[in-house]
Amino acid sequence: MSHVTTASLIQMKQQKEKIAVLTSYDASFTSLIEDAGVEVILVGDSLGMVIQGQESTLPVDVTDIVYHTRCVARGRRNALLIADMPFMSYSSTEQALGTAGRLMKDGGAHMVKLEGGATQLDTVRQLTANGIPVCAHLGLLPQSVHKLGGYRVQGRDDESARIMKEDALALEEAGAQMLVLECVPSDLAREISESLTIPVIGIGAGPHCDGQVLVIYDMLGITPRQPPRFVKNFLHGAASVAEAIKHYQQAVKDGSFPAQEHSFK
Ligand code: KIV
Repeated sequence: MSHVTTASLIQMKQQKEKIAVLTSYDASFTSLIEDAGVEVILVGDSLGMVIQGQESTLPVDVTDIVYHTRCVARGRRNALLIADMPFMSYSSTEQALGTAGRLMKDGGAHMVKLEGGATQLDTVRQLTANGIPVCAHLGLLPQSVHKLGGYRVQGRDDESARIMKEDALALEEAGAQMLVLECVPSDLAREISESLTIPVIGIGAGPHCDGQVLVIYDMLGITPRQPPRFVKNFLHGAASVAEAIKHYQQAVKDGSFPAQEHSFK
């Protein structure tokens, strides 16, 4: 695999080749993820829950993400490396520029991810105007879990589906170069994926997105809680962690993951 870029990912979308994405937080897992040919690695603020044992992603700070991004960058060879902008680290465009600058300069990220729709358009414009590629995130926004009243599927009624479609188009227009859709009904995710030029990566968003992402600890079954419906344990039937990651990559590529039982209506 040659170096993955925002341009090569758009080409994959155009050629209808599915994009495999996994989270990683250290160099050793990153090396296995690279061996499996996964195209994109996300240092998600999910690290607050799976690494730090927090109740939510809210306590994660920029220093945590910089530290883990630097660890992942040491194991990275070809994948595009995205780092999450943590809760309250992009409440103004000035603050967002400072945070993104640290993630890229100190962490070695190639792209930053932030949660939210219409309220983030100015920030996305400012970041991209400064040469910082942005991955947007719509649907279930874990940083807004208290506002949403829990981890629930989003976009089930006509009005929220309409807003999500408008937000997705506006984010692309503002310069976002990738979009994550989390916990969204399959048909809505399909509509959004088909209406955008940029790659749409789903997690609990059905099989029609341009790619899929999972938290690596979830797909290896390393989780003290009941995993969400959209998770599949790829360690089942695999002889090693490396093989489980390869099975995940293959299942995303051939479209067998996610199946109907991992998706929402
Ligand atoms: O923090 C994270 O790992 C994420 C993915 C679940 C998309 O945002």
